[in-house]
Amino acid sequence: MSQLVQEIGIAKEMAAFGAEWLPAVPMSEHTSLEVGGRADMVRVRDLRHIPELVEYLDERGIPWRFLGGGSNLLISDDDRSDVMIHLARGPSDVVFDGNRVQVSAAANLGTAVLQCAKKNLGGMEGLVGVPGTVGGALRMNAGAYGQQIGDVVRTLTLYRHATGQIETIHPESGSFAYRHTSFAPDDIMLSVFLELAERPYSEILERIKQCNVKRRASQPINEKSAGCIFKNPPGGSTGKMIDELGLKGSRVGGAVVSERHANFIVNRYHAKAADILKLIEMIRERILKAFGVELEEEVIIWKN
Ligand code: EPU
Repeated sequence: MSQLVQEIGIAKEMAAFGAEWLPAVPMSEHTSLEVGGRADMVRVRDLRHIPELVEYLDERGIPWRFLGGGSNLLISDDDRSDVMIHLARGPSDVVFDGNRVQVSAAANLGTAVLQCAKKNLGGMEGLVGVPGTVGGALRMNAGAYGQQIGDVVRTLTLYRHATGQIETIHPESGSFAYRHTSFAPDDIMLSVFLELAERPYSEILERIKQCNVKRRASQPINEKSAGCIFKNPPGGSTGKMIDELGLKGSRVGGAVVSERHANFIVNRYHAKAADILKLIEMIRERILKAFGVELEEEVIIWKN
């Protein structure tokens, strides 16, 4: 694909959309698991050009996907045939208006939480240690320590591929569920208005510290991972089940079931995506056999 798209002059055309064309970028550099083959990438600086850019790719039959922070993503090892659309971070990612804050999807989630805290705005403290972008958090309704981002969303601006338009919506109550949202897979989150609670900075900071202490004690935060691999089944804990089967430390190639939290797979010894996928299947089979529970992945998997 790289040669083909270059043949049609895509690199030059991209500049007209305020975008940068980056051929054959290793996806291992864009995922927290540090695995994944190469893909051509378009880095967009001006969100308003997204509709034209997508239309351009669609018209030429060039498949694309939207790549966020890559922190909840497992990309297979082979080179990809689709183009990765990626938002560049900008200087005005977070803009305050009283207890409301407009945040770009490209902003780092943890940084945004801290910026809000400094303005005495709380309600997202639990999310501070969740890696990735605000856009990724919105797509998955990221949550931790009793808080999920969907709870503080007032309006959301997104590009809807189905209509080809940028829309600003008031999400309905059913839009955000446990690690799930009702948006189409090819909708692109662009920015969000969050409504936060006014609280003293010191109080917010204290809560952030407590969450960080808990996270450090129970999750392998210094290793390469994609967070929890599977969702929890209703009323249950996947980490506990995997732990009970004695699977901590299980290894396939360079991928290991974390000794700190059994629902994390870490890339400890230069793992390939294939190693991680095998380990995922092994865990899934063992859990089904032992508990009769069909685990659902929390991590997003892109095979070619
Ligand atoms: N547990 C074990 N062994 C393990 C891991 C956990 O026995 O190896 C037990 C714990 O002792 C606890 C229970 O399982 O009694 C639940 O564990 P924990 O409190 O770590 O929470 P979790 O349900 O495993 C969820 C989210 C995390 C989030 C934490 C904190 C999911 C799939 N995971 O983990 O989110 O950080 O709560 O709120 O919902 C993620 O989304 O990627 C993620 C890591």
